[in-house]
Amino acid sequence: MHKKYKAALFDLDGVLVDTAKYHFLAWNQIAKSLGITFTEEDNERLKGVSRMESLDILLSLGSVILTNEEKVELADKKNKIYVEYILKLDEKDILPGVLLLLEELKEKGIRTAIGSASKNTPVIIERLGIKKYFQAISDGNIISKAKPDPEVFIKAAEMINIEQKECVVFEDAKAGIQAAKRAGMYAVGVGRKEDLPGADRWVSTLLELDSNQLF
Ligand code: BG6
Ligand code: MG
Repeated sequence: MHKKYKAALFDLDGVLVDTAKYHFLAWNQIAKSLGITFTEEDNERLKGVSRMESLDILLSLGSVILTNEEKVELADKKNKIYVEYILKLDEKDILPGVLLLLEELKEKGIRTAIGSASKNTPVIIERLGIKKYFQAISDGNIISKAKPDPEVFIKAAEMINIEQKECVVFEDAKAGIQAAKRAGMYAVGVGRKEDLPGADRWVSTLLELDSNQLF
């Protein structure tokens, strides 16, 4: 018998919605403009990582060194391209099993929050029509330390008034699993076990999860 938890904290990109492909397309345009080769495999390294850190990884791939000002300009440019894509998102982009799980949690009275590095969280959940399922949003607009720092999940737990050890985190990024474990939370890896070391359990999509075991 598993312990029963009181709250569910969800990463956004790659857990609730399939946005990795849009991050990739947008970064790829920036990479091309700099003459850097950027593959989907390279894009894996950007998952869960903040916008500026993602740019640093991209620049390091091409050994490109820029001033801070130039970097801010490029990050803004990438975001403009990315926002064009996410403005077209709708319910069809919600990942498998998400709505069912959110409905089950609502029925059980489990508190839910988002814990994401993305500054675009508000616009994305608005587009997907899932805002109503969350009591709090802890995102890139309010945190100062990116995952694997636990700040984003600690803030989320505080916002919904639930102790950290009573929370389950759903994450598709290695840095996110590390953040959840550092916060003393139960971590469900959404994706391949080999990509998500340190999680307490893994599912390939949320459809596989039996929520009665955890909540
Ligand atoms: C994370 C994504 O959720 O948000 C990263 O996994 C992304 O790939 C980061 O870089 C920041 O997102 P945004 O929308 O603020 O540029
Ligand atoms: Mg993610």
